[in-house]
Amino acid sequence: MNDMKEIIEEIKARCDIASVIGDYIKIQPSGQNYKALCPFHVEKTPSFHISTAKQVYKCFGCGEGGDVINFVMKMENLDFMDAVRMLATRCGIDINFNIDEDTKRKIELSKKYQDIHTEAARYYFANLLQTKNRGYEYLKNRGLDDRTIKKFGLGYSPDSWSSLMDYLMNEKGYSREELLECGLIGKSTKTDKYYDKFRNRVMFPIFDYRGNVIGFGGRVLDDSLPKYLNSPDTLIFNKRHNLYGLNFARKNLSSRTVILVEGYMDLISLYQYGIQIAVATLGTALTSQQAHLIKRYADNVIISYDSDGPGIKASLRAIDILVEAGLSVKVLNLKDSKDPDEYVRKYGTDEYKKAMRDAVPRIKFKIDNLKDSFDLSRDGDNIKFAKEAVNIIKQLKSPVEIDYYIKYLSGIVQLDEDAVKREIYGKSYNSKISSNKKFNRYTQDEKPNIEKMDAIQHGEELTEIMLIKIMMNIPAAREKILLKIDENEFLMEESKKITRYLSKVDSEKVVDSSELADIDEKYIESLKKVSLDSIDTKNLKEIEETVKSVKRNSLKNKINNLRRKQSELEEKRKNLDNNEKELLKELDVEIMNIALQAVDLNKRLRNL
Ligand code: UTP
Ligand code: MN
Repeated sequence: MNDMKEIIEEIKARCDIASVIGDYIKIQPSGQNYKALCPFHVEKTPSFHISTAKQVYKCFGCGEGGDVINFVMKMENLDFMDAVRMLATRCGIDINFNIDEDTKRKIELSKKYQDIHTEAARYYFANLLQTKNRGYEYLKNRGLDDRTIKKFGLGYSPDSWSSLMDYLMNEKGYSREELLECGLIGKSTKTDKYYDKFRNRVMFPIFDYRGNVIGFGGRVLDDSLPKYLNSPDTLIFNKRHNLYGLNFARKNLSSRTVILVEGYMDLISLYQYGIQIAVATLGTALTSQQAHLIKRYADNVIISYDSDGPGIKASLRAIDILVEAGLSVKVLNLKDSKDPDEYVRKYGTDEYKKAMRDAVPRIKFKIDNLKDSFDLSRDGDNIKFAKEAVNIIKQLKSPVEIDYYIKYLSGIVQLDEDAVKREIYGKSYNSKISSNKKFNRYTQDEKPNIEKMDAIQHGEELTEIMLIKIMMNIPAAREKILLKIDENEFLMEESKKITRYLSKVDSEKVVDSSELADIDEKYIESLKKVSLDSIDTKNLKEIEETVKSVKRNSLKNKINNLRRKQSELEEKRKNLDNNEKELLKELDVEIMNIALQAVDLNKRLRNL
């Protein structure tokens, strides 16, 4: 990374201010926020406040305040750049400050080109609103309201050969060469004359993720071709790296899910209808750079491309690129509409949101799509399809998901599940191995390690009781532990109760078991018996390990419950009559959801 603004934004996003300040001074939680004794002046009661929502600090005693970078500057007595460097290192951002002359010149030039684009966008926008023109009429006809037009800065390029050029050169003082470099004007090879590239078009300014105008798309007002004219790649615009609409969407991505659409109108239309989490690829195939850009803001992508052949093809291609970047992918079904724009205008916001919820997981999308290219009533086709579908399923790593799709596929081809499994795992597959062992065989990298569950039942309880005892006996550790663990992460009701009690007692108090009310005697007995000798209670690292163990056990327990529920539903599914299609579908969805939840928890387990 070598764009300064980008680095600073990234630092603020990644270095949580409370945890940075917490490294220097003792901070106390106070609601959502924190307070502390101010490190910048002498005081006895805390007037130093940290706002986690705003990511700033402020001392109401001495007036000192700012963001995480200001804090580090002041605390470490560093200048701005050094503080940035230090924080970047802390949160693992790679920066390259050795800017040579050439790069410096480029940065300055980029700034200028951005200004030119901003001026051009203003010009087009003013044209759209001031004079009576066909562009405004066109946008109105497509159902856009004034607010949307303003939000996206849409404009109109007049039917003239030089109006933009004249404006930017005469009124704004930019040179012809600069406009040429920005791709806003061209030069005729025949007459050597310069001319405006965008004429008589509706103009869509293209923003980078921060909201700077870096290019344009211009749409014709009729059916003539090319339908859209886009800015060429320039110093500041690269189609392959940029995503249209990200500047808006990224503010609404707390759910870490984005919708991927093909073009300007789809995105803007969805936005007007209140669906403001979309980004667009502007007609070119999705690139891996764009996928990684998405990954910075989201973990899940719902592809919502056109429903025609090319749209499906593009979706299939996009799936692989997105998965490669570590994203989880679903595909939205537009029913009879040709694109999201048409769909949302025809059926409305709620229906589109429903379609988002019903979006098909990528493997199912691929299998279903593959199915359509076969005639399954023919015997040979059935097998051929199964073999190809198995290759799709093999792309999965998670045993839970694999299991689900084996069932799904054997349901479609009317083949025995074991036959499909043999196809996946090879001839040596033996259906008699217990299901737990199977997991071990299939996936070295996953190591769910849940099969020990029953055997360590006792150990789990012990770990839990041990952590409770630590919290009772060592007040200093208690505070830290309570910050890290939630009462619901304990398996035993008694542990939950005690944790609730401990969170209320005085922060320096040692708690004796005699003051615990309403706790099972056996539990108290274990509590007394369990010894803390085996762990070094001064060593916070060791205590942290115990916390992690409890967390791990909680996750494993949840996963096991999900698996049990899944098996029950699968059993139920088996016993269903073939006529109960609706019920079957419902069950499938439910099973899928459970399977995915389990996958999610497994992921958390691995990351712990
Ligand atoms: P579409 O043809 O689906 O465009 O192409 P659209 O946005 O839905 O256009 P409307 O609804 O007819 O106005 C998808 C995207 O591909 C790019 C544009 O970015 C467009 O939004 N495209 C399409 C071009 O760049 N050039 C073209 O000639 C056509
Ligand atoms: Mn369209």
